Amino acid sequence: MAKEINTIGVLTSGGDAPGMNAAIRAVVRTALARGKKVKGIMKGYHGLLREEIIDMDINSVSDIIQKGGTILYTARCMEFMTPEGQKKAADICKKHGIDGLVVIGGDGSFRGAQKLSHLGVNTVGVPGTIDLDIACTDFTIGFDTAVNTAMEAIDKVRDTSTSHERCSIIEVMGRHAGYIALWCGIANGAEDILLPERYDNNEQKIINHIITNRKRGKKHHIIINAEGIGHSASMAKRIEAATGMETRATILGHMQRGGSPTCKDRVYASIMGAYAVDLLCAGKSNRVVAYKHGEYIDYEIDEALAMKKDIDEYQFEISQLLSGKW
Ligand code: ADP
Ligand code: F6P
Repeated sequence: MAKEINTIGVLTSGGDAPGMNAAIRAVVRTALARGKKVKGIMKGYHGLLREEIIDMDINSVSDIIQKGGTILYTARCMEFMTPEGQKKAADICKKHGIDGLVVIGGDGSFRGAQKLSHLGVNTVGVPGTIDLDIACTDFTIGFDTAVNTAMEAIDKVRDTSTSHERCSIIEVMGRHAGYIALWCGIANGAEDILLPERYDNNEQKIINHIITNRKRGKKHHIIINAEGIGHSASMAKRIEAATGMETRATILGHMQRGGSPTCKDRVYASIMGAYAVDLLCAGKSNRVVAYKHGEYIDYEIDEALAMKKDIDEYQFEISQLLSGKW
């Protein structure tokens, strides 16, 4: 029989994401309601290694559900990537009586949680990343807010692009994953959508598309380019030279990671945070909370990390068709 958990720690790690605060709040309040103590670990694994650990009570998470970012701060930590760093972190958890740990972050953060669980710290991961690139889940905290922020910004660029009859290349976040680009591409009615998972490096196809659209009277040409492809500024120069259409590049950048979370991000993050605590209370460890086919479920971290995710082929095909390519 698993030993009962007395103290639950919570940290946020990797890139921040709107809705992380809602998850922290849910972890703290659910744990307190289940009779556990709660410790907040500042700045992810970096803060854990430096023992930046605070006691949390019901008031610690008041007035945060509507706020972007993470009240616990976040970091990337090289030292924690080493076996020595991981052993030190596990010892620090034990020293502070942390026998259950909720890690809110992406795949990389889950790899860290997996290592800690193998060193005897019960861990549960909660998916937090604007990239939507965690294979085991259809929802990650922050994606909904980020994609809505990007969509609104792109609508604004489109207004000025149309007025000036320009081509606009708008670069959205996603170093390895094109979900923000794909969703904005569809939601903003972009003429071209460039995803790291699908891009064939064929600029001539884009140029031909612009020329065809100009001939049928299109006033603008919006290209959504994912960060993973990048080079938006030089692409703009080449496209302008080849088409004669004035072309500007806009990189949306970190604005996509900030701001007040949407209702969906707040609610799903709240349920996932609570679910993570209940897994720990039930004696489970080395798990990831997921939302799959309309249900909250959980996976063994090893199984979750072994899963592969790719852009849905049908969604991709329709995005191309709606952008006028058939
Ligand atoms: P994300 O969690 O958003 O994927 P990162 O990949 O940057 O973000 O990972 C966040 C942190 O998790 C890293 O800085 C590191 O401390 C830890 N981490 C990442 N990969 C591993 C790994 N393979 N083993 C142990 N810790 C890891
Ligand atoms: O993982 C979220 C994300 O915003 C990615 O889309 C992006 O590639 C990366 O983080 C950028 O991270 P940072 O600028 O914080 O190093």
